[in-house]
Amino acid sequence: MNSSPVASSNAVALPPLHTLAGSAERTDQSRADIVRVGIIGYGYWGPNIVRNFHCVDGCQVVSVCDRSSAALERAGRLYPDVDLTTDYSAILKSPTIDAVAVVTPVWTHFELAKSALLHGKHVLVEKPFTCTSAQAEELIELADRKNLKVMVDHTFLFSGPVMKIRELVDSGTLGNLYYFDSTRVNLGLFQHDVNVLWDLAPHDLSIMDHVIEDRPEAVVATGGRHLNGLADVAFITVYFPRNVIAHVNVNWLSPVKVRTTLIGGEQKMLVWNDLAADEKIKVYDKGVKITSREDVHELLVSYRSGDVWAPRVEQTEALKVELDYFVYCIVNDRTPINDGVAGLRVVKLLEAADQSLKARGSIVAL
Ligand SMILES: NC(=O)c1ccc[n+]([C@@H]2O[C@H](COP(=O)([O-])OP(=O)(O)OC[C@H]3O[C@@H](n4cnc5c(N)ncnc54)[C@H](O)[C@@H]3O)[C@@H](O)[C@H]2O)c1
Repeated sequence: MNSSPVASSNAVALPPLHTLAGSAERTDQSRADIVRVGIIGYGYWGPNIVRNFHCVDGCQVVSVCDRSSAALERAGRLYPDVDLTTDYSAILKSPTIDAVAVVTPVWTHFELAKSALLHGKHVLVEKPFTCTSAQAEELIELADRKNLKVMVDHTFLFSGPVMKIRELVDSGTLGNLYYFDSTRVNLGLFQHDVNVLWDLAPHDLSIMDHVIEDRPEAVVATGGRHLNGLADVAFITVYFPRNVIAHVNVNWLSPVKVRTTLIGGEQKMLVWNDLAADEKIKVYDKGVKITSREDVHELLVSYRSGDVWAPRVEQTEALKVELDYFVYCIVNDRTPINDGVAGLRVVKLLEAADQSLKARGSIVAL
């Protein structure tokens, strides 16, 4: 994606991510610029983080920590040269580690990230950033004070389809936006510590936050809990200025997996089906025009139905692009687009959605 400046309040242009893989920006990198990483949490997602950090130029995975020795055995078989520990403080205290990835359950993010920052480490924190906005604000302030980077793993922002969608919005191809409608449903994976909102919706809300220029004004959420006391089905509506509306449908009780986003604009509309093997994005030259003439009392409705095209999207694994960017931001002292402030915006939306859900869909102003 091009890094052309974007004229909007939400305008944080992505770096030329495709050049990072080739280390074009880091050709003068000395050994001192090698970012040495420790990863805490090697459960379901941690192995993906470790595998991708291993492929990042200018980065060395020094240590992996998990409370579970079975998890560490799995890591040890794949990465015999990496230190393994069940004690996360060994990573935090290690003078050879520059950055820590927190890949543990949500309720542990704040304490682990705070300790890492207090020990002078840059941190990558899994989504959702924290359990509360107060915690997120504290981490942002602490990182600022210590001049350290915080990045929140909003993986999808670095996927080919989302980079393409952002490009289509920024270039004005879609025209003024009408709506953003995202469906992320599947059977499971049930979580024990967070409801479906906090588990799945961070993906959709971070994408929405990245694609829609304006800041949201209010949230309505409804949903139901059917099995373990936590909401397992939820529908979130987010209201934006200029009549833009977003809707997110997250569900752990769906018989089929759906990962589809519709974005409607005045000029074009698009469908992103993330499960499609190719042509994940289709752009439709479709629209509706309503006109009235002074001498005609009825409204004249005309429908436009033109070409459909599938733009080419980057295929590189999003997590690889993101971790490359994490190292780039540390080495080049840049503020990531998915920094703590971006993480806080998502946490605020989740808090508001939770509040609305508990009140059976009452509107919560942001
Ligand atoms: N970005 C994504 O697409 C994505 C995908 C899945 C999960 N996640 C996030 O990743 C995080 C972890 O999720 P998961 O599904 O891997 O969970 P998990 O329960 O499978 O794994 C968490 C691991 O952390 C370990 N752990 C917990 N506390 C620890 C501590 N104090 N010290 C050392 N180890 C500790 C556990 O033993 C476990 O192995 C969550 O925040 C989740 O939201 C992100």
